[in-house]
Amino acid sequence: MRSLSRSNAHFKNASSRLPLGVASNFRYWGDDKTIYVDRGKGGRVWDIDGNEYIDYRLGYGPVILGYGDDRVDAAAREGMNVGGVFALATEKEYEVAERICNMVPAAELVRFSNSGTEAVMAALRIARGFTGKDCHVVMEGGYHGLFTELMWETDVEDWRPGEPEPAIVPFGDGIPAATRQLFHSVPMNDANALEDLLRQKHDQIAAFLIEPIMGNCCGIRADDQYMKDVRQICDRYDVLLVIDEVKTGFRVAKGGVQELYNVKADLCTFAKAIANGYPLSVVAGREEIMRKVGDGIAHGGTFTAHSVSLAAAARTLEILDETSALADIESYGRELQAGLGSILRGRDIAHSFTGHPALMGLFFSETAPSSYREWRHSNYDFYDALAPELHELGILIEPDSREPWFLCESHNVECLSETLDNFEQAVDITLQKMPAGGPKHP
Ligand SMILES: Cc1ncc(COP(=O)(O)O)c(C=O)c1O
Repeated sequence: MRSLSRSNAHFKNASSRLPLGVASNFRYWGDDKTIYVDRGKGGRVWDIDGNEYIDYRLGYGPVILGYGDDRVDAAAREGMNVGGVFALATEKEYEVAERICNMVPAAELVRFSNSGTEAVMAALRIARGFTGKDCHVVMEGGYHGLFTELMWETDVEDWRPGEPEPAIVPFGDGIPAATRQLFHSVPMNDANALEDLLRQKHDQIAAFLIEPIMGNCCGIRADDQYMKDVRQICDRYDVLLVIDEVKTGFRVAKGGVQELYNVKADLCTFAKAIANGYPLSVVAGREEIMRKVGDGIAHGGTFTAHSVSLAAAARTLEILDETSALADIESYGRELQAGLGSILRGRDIAHSFTGHPALMGLFFSETAPSSYREWRHSNYDFYDALAPELHELGILIEPDSREPWFLCESHNVECLSETLDNFEQAVDITLQKMPAGGPKHP
């Protein structure tokens, strides 16, 4: 049995100074389950009790090469020697921008920020400034950061098919009702729903903001045809297509999710994997739109394009662009899926994978959902019961099944065989503990 005694003791101290004892609500897993990390290296982390985990959360996606990657950290140290921030530009900005534009065809011009949230905020502002319209549409189940205009969500958990449309509710307290007027949402893979909305409201809507692979909703995927339709519908109604690649960018392909779908956004956002964990984000897009930045549209920030983050990004992107790192991660993901699948098939457990092998959703049903509404009706009880057993055995996945598994270049054959052995044990323990014996094939 894993001991969390030091983490539990630390939680008591930490919660006297930090709400929930942590720096982000999502890191609180319960008074006796919250983990405090000692360090990470490669694809593994160690907590302050000395427990070792193979990590498939990877900080929710930034760690694409591995924790403490020596190549990137050496570059970051050189970035430190530059001096940080100056309220002036450095040459490195152009080098990183050039690399991004070469990797992502939709990126004709680039601006940097620090977090995914900031990049998406900038993208929406730019879309509004360019179109002269104020509202936005998002995909149900999408997540784009914690900022007020986007802190509305479709309440699928309390909704049943056949009932009127699910309610749109705020993410919590502190969200002004006035911002609800700006917000619309549509289900994934329903082009008619988007077309109907834009037909009625296109004169108010600046942007359709989407993650074609929902990085915060089990990796549920848009169909190829849906993405083609979305591109055409946005063009037809003069609504900008903003693709949020904060999770998919520099992870699912060199050119991100846009390369997988062969679709070009008007604006796109990147963060997470761009600098292997150092804080840097990007809003990029069509020249005609991006030239409005500085010509009417405000953008900037004290810490923007910090020399450490830029140096880390330059090296991370060089590795991702010029080596087989992303292909290697993908092939690890395929092997992992094959191994997990064979364990589950051996126990007659219905399952499916979605997303991308580098950012994968695991479902305990024959087919993966194709929208957030369908997710509501998938069986996630087994996942919820399995996750803590995996933690006990040193495999770190998110307790909430809506967060996909993330893979990195440092996940190697040892990680694979250890993961599969421990997954098999965890499945058997979960089956024993579940009264109905788990999800079987119908
Ligand atoms: C798709 C997407 N957009 C935006 C964000 C916000 O990024 P950050 O947490 O860096 O502010 C996230 C975070 O998970 C995300 O997944």
